[in-house]
Amino acid sequence: MLRRLAHEQPDSFAFTPANQAWAEAQISKYPEGRQASAIIPLLWRAQEQEGWLSRPAIEHVAALLNMAYIRALEVATFYFMFQLHPTGSIAHVQVCGTTSCMICGAEDLIQVCKDKIANSAHKLSADGKFTWEEVECLGSCSNAPMAQIGKDYYEDLTAERFAEILDELAEGKVPVPGPQNGRYAAEPLSGLTSLKEFDSGKQRYNASVQLAVEIGDTVKRIDGTEVPLRAPWRGASGTISPSEERAATKAARSAPKAPAAPAAEAPSSPGRKPEGLSEARAGQPDDLKKIKGVGPKLEKLLHSLGFFHFDQVAAWTEEEIAWVDENLEGFKGRVTRDNWVAQAKELADQGN
Ligand code: FES
Repeated sequence: MLRRLAHEQPDSFAFTPANQAWAEAQISKYPEGRQASAIIPLLWRAQEQEGWLSRPAIEHVAALLNMAYIRALEVATFYFMFQLHPTGSIAHVQVCGTTSCMICGAEDLIQVCKDKIANSAHKLSADGKFTWEEVECLGSCSNAPMAQIGKDYYEDLTAERFAEILDELAEGKVPVPGPQNGRYAAEPLSGLTSLKEFDSGKQRYNASVQLAVEIGDTVKRIDGTEVPLRAPWRGASGTISPSEERAATKAARSAPKAPAAPAAEAPSSPGRKPEGLSEARAGQPDDLKKIKGVGPKLEKLLHSLGFFHFDQVAAWTEEEIAWVDENLEGFKGRVTRDNWVAQAKELADQGN
């Protein structure tokens, strides 16, 4: 199956303050130089926040991790758990279509999706509330057929009950997940044959369902209003509320700096550094991302080097191109490879 980015993309992406703090805490788990290891949790968080992974979200995560965009794109397009198209505002429904579920009626569930949501997978329902897809075994085979809706499993489904669940969700209710045929968990349909002394009456639902009911957010997206996010490896309390995060950042910035060690002689770069500006003219930088090959991270890097306008890039000489190519951390050689100068000339001439 081809996994491509959606044609229509939002203009930008940003984590909520709490999710940003959480992302920074995840990154801090890894040793210097290995921050890219946080790619999957960060992409996942972006998806949980928005419901799907847009191109700006993938770019944002790549920039946070100091990775080339293509590397983040490779991860996002490889794993099926990442949704590359907008999902329903209420829920994305994943119907298991593997052997046990197929034998027990998955095709009927898929027909319900086609009738009630959209005739093909990954397409928004007319009211924008739902999307669906068929997925491989979700590991709940003894409760087949089943579907994952939001974060939880709805098991032992019939087409009728599944349709009712979708209707309830559309009305803003969150039906109790777990077995839908009266089973407690995955015991035999005809009743227990062993461990008969087990008393399920102590707790109304099995552990997974009980937790889902207590949390009550089966289909809620992570928006930063959750209980404080924790990062115990970061200190005694392990709490990383945004206010604490901001206070810590502020304290670090205002702390007196240790006297700098005598600078090692910098290796000389080839070429010559083009003259840069301290800031954009009239505070209005050009959108350097219009140059093919320049994403948000490179644009930021160019700003830090003093380049804000197409005419600046268009005027680079061979010597200056060599210097910039050498000094694009992680993106060496891009100026030549993507012919930025010619592109910038064209954009400057167009008055972009
Ligand atoms: Fe459907 Fe395993 S076959 S959950």
